Amino acid sequence: MSDEAQGLTRRAILTGACAALGLGVAAATALPAAADSQVRRLPDGRLAVRVRRVPELAREGGAVRIGTINGRAVAVTRTATGYRAFSLACPHQGATVVRDADGWVCPAHGSEFTPTGDLVLGPATRGLSTVKSTLSKDVLTVG
Ligand code: FES
Repeated sequence: MSDEAQGLTRRAILTGACAALGLGVAAATALPAAADSQVRRLPDGRLAVRVRRVPELAREGGAVRIGTINGRAVAVTRTATGYRAFSLACPHQGATVVRDADGWVCPAHGSEFTPTGDLVLGPATRGLSTVKSTLSKDVLTVG
């Protein structure tokens, strides 16, 4: 099966599953308990993440949804030099992307992204947008 056919199959399965089970989307986007306990909302609405205590961020390329800022879902990934926060709003038309085994996928029209938010497959034409973040000791402040 070609890469394109595999992508379409994965897209069809995810889109069908999401349509059939609305709860499936919620389950797929739920914050892992280990990460949830390491995220704190600041009074100004930003999120403070104790990144060294989040198992998903233990290795480069790992990524996890950390919550929402101003109603928009946000994730953090570990990079070669630190951490990067990015929006989970699809750059195509704004649907919230969800995690799958290969990265992030948009349930609306099937765009796919790497775990670190780079574009793999359209219709989106760019990767997931960076969200401002600053690291101090092991706390990444996002937003
Ligand atoms: S909104 Fe994500 S692919 Fe269209």
